[in-house]
Amino acid sequence: MGIRGKDLFDVDDLEAGDVKEIFERAQFFKRHGLQKWTSLKGKSICTLFFESSTRTRISFELAAKRLGADIINFTASTSSLNKGESFKDTVKTLDAMGIDLYVIRHSEPGSPVMMKKYTNSPVINAGDGVHAHPTQALLDAYTIWEKFGNFNIKIVIIGDVLHSRVARSDAKLLKMLGADVTLAGPESFVPSYFENYGVRISHNIEKSISESDIVMGLRVQLERQSGGFFPTLDEYNEFYGINSKRMKMAKNPIFMHPGPMNRGVEVMEEVSDSDSSAVEEQVTNGVFVRMALLDLILGGVTN
Ligand code: CP
Repeated sequence: MGIRGKDLFDVDDLEAGDVKEIFERAQFFKRHGLQKWTSLKGKSICTLFFESSTRTRISFELAAKRLGADIINFTASTSSLNKGESFKDTVKTLDAMGIDLYVIRHSEPGSPVMMKKYTNSPVINAGDGVHAHPTQALLDAYTIWEKFGNFNIKIVIIGDVLHSRVARSDAKLLKMLGADVTLAGPESFVPSYFENYGVRISHNIEKSISESDIVMGLRVQLERQSGGFFPTLDEYNEFYGINSKRMKMAKNPIFMHPGPMNRGVEVMEEVSDSDSSAVEEQVTNGVFVRMALLDLILGGVTN
């Protein structure tokens, strides 16, 4: 049965076996490169992005097109939401047109779960506020699996953990898969309650980097800050920025970042654009992982 017909609100919705199946299907698609498939021919997928996105939106669109599905991008700003139509009626209207699967990003945590109240079609969370970003976690974990072949690795995730849905989903998924995970940054960005995720927390990024195989940077989410988390961006960079001097404290660590990056704030170009950076591979893998998810959830003929 696997994940066929299921929703994906967060990584908790997946068993380790589901993740393995997603990775193997993503690897299968990656081996075939840019080949087009017809496994989802006749299926209609609707993306609803109420919050900005480059990678997630376009990779879902590419993934759907490569599988032969019809993809519709709902644009809130030009929709009848502007005439006062409710979210409920918006979803029911889309459903009446025969949408087989929804992909939603919203600034409000829990929006994908709310959407599910109005539709029987599967819903994939493409990021809901600071809560969760399960498909980013899957593509991050896939990238690690491809590089290391297992999850017997140490990873430190550094930066604005407090406002990061990626850090939350990555921490849960990587722990589930067996990785040793540390969340690091200033105390204002990494409060002690993150220990509840079963991960280590650290405010000493040099020490954490020196012990890690993978260093993941997180964007300082200026749009979600109410102020008071650190004095200035320059000081943040000085004390918590990922630069080549700090990276050299570990043995050939891989650099990862979910993007978008603030160059010169949480990471310096000498790291983000170096040979040790997996940032572009993460983006490439995002298409194949999302192809795998869509194919498995909608039961494409490659099943
Ligand atoms: N990583 C990520 O979610 O990027 P986008 O906001 O560009 O989709």
